[in-house]
Amino acid sequence: MKKSFFVSTPIYYPSGKLHIGHTYTTTLADVMARYKKENGYDVFFLTGSDEHGQKIEQKANEANLTPKEYVDGIVESFKDLWTKLHIDFDRFIRTTDEDHMKAVQKIFSLLLEKELIYPSEYKGKYCVSCEEFLTYEQMDENFVHNVCKNVAKDFQEETYMLKVSAFKDFLVDLFKTNFLEPEARKKEMLNNFINNDLEDLSVTRVSFKWGIPVIENSNHVIYVWIDALSNYITALGWGSEDDSLLKKFWSKDSEVLQFVGKEITRFHSIYWPVILKSLDLKMPDKLLSHGWILSGGNKMSKSLGNVVDPIELIEKYSSDAVRFYVANNLPTDKDGNLTEELFVESFNTNLANNVGNLISRVSNMIIKYFDGKLNKVDLDLNRPLVKLGLETIDEYKKQMDVYNISEATQTVLKLGQECNKFIEDTKPWALEKEGKLEELNLVLSILQKNIIIISFLLKPILTENYSKMIGQMGLENNEINFENISENNFDYKQITNKLVLFERIK
Ligand code: MSP
Repeated sequence: MKKSFFVSTPIYYPSGKLHIGHTYTTTLADVMARYKKENGYDVFFLTGSDEHGQKIEQKANEANLTPKEYVDGIVESFKDLWTKLHIDFDRFIRTTDEDHMKAVQKIFSLLLEKELIYPSEYKGKYCVSCEEFLTYEQMDENFVHNVCKNVAKDFQEETYMLKVSAFKDFLVDLFKTNFLEPEARKKEMLNNFINNDLEDLSVTRVSFKWGIPVIENSNHVIYVWIDALSNYITALGWGSEDDSLLKKFWSKDSEVLQFVGKEITRFHSIYWPVILKSLDLKMPDKLLSHGWILSGGNKMSKSLGNVVDPIELIEKYSSDAVRFYVANNLPTDKDGNLTEELFVESFNTNLANNVGNLISRVSNMIIKYFDGKLNKVDLDLNRPLVKLGLETIDEYKKQMDVYNISEATQTVLKLGQECNKFIEDTKPWALEKEGKLEELNLVLSILQKNIIIISFLLKPILTENYSKMIGQMGLENNEINFENISENNFDYKQITNKLVLFERIK
């Protein structure tokens, strides 16, 4: 049986255009999905939109539209962005999808029946912008929310509560495992919530209508978080007639990876496991809580008005350039930076001067000295650069298998640097002058092989350029895989055209 892999992004609020922060999470998930496919897994990659709630209702009112009309337009812009960025998801779930809404009502009824949800009253501070009840740790003395900088409102209304407090032991045990990364976030959750004052969670509202109605009490709509979190299983058919996808991708035999930004880690590491446990479903294998992309020291966000528009970046510099920056320059375990200057610098250093330059130098020499086709030779595995190529494959896999995309990418770039250095050291142009054609053929064969390795390992990131990269070495798209990459039995075709890849940005 083929191994299976499920990967998800948070579902984003269609309250405005998406920015580079959302692009970050989605690109990481896409890169992982492509890597796993390459590695022989059956993959399900889920993303979508979180469409209910008060904020959307308000925005729609301001725009003189119904909430559905309002979100329909924005969701189109999400999909358009994902197309431009070559995001290859298997389902785009909308929380207004019929099957999702039905399943959420079913989840609610089931938990009500088990008395894990109960009627009550809520009193406290609420952040409308983030759709979140706040604890005092999350606000300053003027009740300003430390994430979005909006003032939280007083709130009191009848509501249904999820009995999170009954799951304390379960959560303490769960947090002994490595399901949540990085470690620092785990400590934060334990200290601030689990070991502190694990409160029940309000899960319905009576003050607005734009949500999934509670069947048992039509004054209430299901509050966004139960609605939103459930998407990960409703998308796979939980509670429907056909739950074969759920059985395949949310099972103990499947690897489940969920990417979230750090500000929604609490929901995904505490409430989401509680919901899963209540439904007797397995926990995600890994919840990867990544840092923020900062701009001017603050989280890039719509409400702060400091966002970078991904479409502008893609149109100006290409989707591969954006995908590369995200994968290489923004490691998940800390906050990252993105300015146009850093972006251009990384592109020039890594893609133009390293990888692109290497490919064009080598292909030009193959054309010039061997009429576009090298003679087949066996590569001596003891030659350092041949060895390094093979080690790079192993190291890359090792990093990718623990979801360290940035480290994996840097391993590949290192090989590129070594290849460029090898050209300086071996001086192929001098070998030609001295008539040492056999040695020249070997040097170029070693480089050619390593360029194939570099290109193949960057394939999940560089979706637009991959074919061109290997094309410049005389291979075609589907010829390379993890099985044959280590050998050197490729049937290289003659290269004729000179192509500049990753042209330097001025
Ligand atoms: N709708 C909820 C999520 C529900 S999931 C069941 C939500 N949506 S959101 O539109 O606000 O998107 C939040 C996610 O966008 C973050 O978790 C993160 O993945 C991404 N990011 C938004 N801004 C970001 C940065 N500035 N930096 C990095 N990622 C950020 O919350």
